Amino acid sequence: MATVSSLNRVLSGMRTTGKLHLGHYHGVLKNWVNLQHEHDCFFFAADWHALTTHYEDPSIIENSVYDVIIDWLAAGVNPGSATIFIQSKVPEHAELHLLLSMITPLGWLERVPTFKDQQEKLKEKDLATYGFLGYPLLQSADILIYKAGLVPVGEDQVSHVELTREVARRFNHLYGREKGYEEKAEAAIGKMGRKNAKLYKELQKRYREQGDTEALSTGRALLESQHNLSVGDKERLFGFIEGGGKVILPEPQSLLTKASKVPGLDGQKMSKSYGNTIGLREEPASIEKKIKIMPTDPARVRLTDPGDPQKCPVWQFHLMYSSEEVKAWVQESCTTAAIGCIDCKQRVTDAVLKELQPIREAAQEYIDDPKIVRTIVAEGNERARDVARDTLDEVRLAMGLSYR
Ligand code: TRP
Ligand code: SF4
Repeated sequence: MATVSSLNRVLSGMRTTGKLHLGHYHGVLKNWVNLQHEHDCFFFAADWHALTTHYEDPSIIENSVYDVIIDWLAAGVNPGSATIFIQSKVPEHAELHLLLSMITPLGWLERVPTFKDQQEKLKEKDLATYGFLGYPLLQSADILIYKAGLVPVGEDQVSHVELTREVARRFNHLYGREKGYEEKAEAAIGKMGRKNAKLYKELQKRYREQGDTEALSTGRALLESQHNLSVGDKERLFGFIEGGGKVILPEPQSLLTKASKVPGLDGQKMSKSYGNTIGLREEPASIEKKIKIMPTDPARVRLTDPGDPQKCPVWQFHLMYSSEEVKAWVQESCTTAAIGCIDCKQRVTDAVLKELQPIREAAQEYIDDPKIVRTIVAEGNERARDVARDTLDEVRLAMGLSYR
């Protein structure tokens, strides 16, 4: 059953610029895995977005697209509940991006904070490109083409969802005003049955007269559940609550994922650009070595020098991984120099290896049988395309591009 907004639909993407690490696991993937049980989830590898910054050497993208997807699967993203696909395999995103670009004022893109921030941060790259300026608008197309209601993103991406809302509003404003709109909307209300029609009118009144946003969302939920209304009628009535035109592209909400608390090996946030990561599928021996050479409280020069866990990056890992008991043991024995850092670190190593072992094993099964992943992605691409094509048909119709 087609719906106007898929309020329950979740969409998120990840740029494919290298293998994933513990930060991605705790910051993003665990969240995706939880969402997939209650929402209609679409997760995709954003290879075009990766290209905006890696256009000079795209080999890294090519090499990481499937690696990243294997990481998702190994971490528990379930292709039975979530649609997993690759952005460039659904070229409808590009057409919607192009069409939206016609109505997007340059200033909106120039003012997106990530535009200047990233240019500053990635000074070694020339990001004064058309593609990079359009990055957030491509993201808007990713979201709007699925009419997603919810977009799980980190803090840095909230402005992109905000732009998406503005672009959707502008689109609906420009193209949602058909001839005889009010009459058609009134006729659609008549198709809802007496009780629901009355409820709709009440909610509409509450929203229009008192600006009651709860009435707006209740009204929209009511429409979602009306199985005898056509998509067109639902779009009319969605917009008619507010008094605007048809809502062809619904405005998404961002679902803010709390900043990942994963510390890096050096105590800064774990990030590829700091070179302080532990890979999701990294070999145990390599992880062990990395932890072994982690810096500790500099006061602990000799075994007999007491330390302070607050000044030690290893402690940050204990906070994430250790029981109260182990944490108390660290506090006590570090400050009294009762243990050496090697013993203290061993507990962290054990915990990390234990967490990653099932992920590495699951990933290995996919690596050993690449056909499975190809099939999952091929099916995901198709499922995504079906939805994307429907939206694009509506968009073309609304913009007067449906002639043959
Ligand atoms: N820009 C996002 C990031 O850097 C990735 C992304 C691309 C995305 N398209 C999206 C996220 C659509 C959410 C929805 O993390
Ligand atoms: Fe850090 Fe542990 Fe060494 Fe203390 S004992 S300095 S917490 S590694």
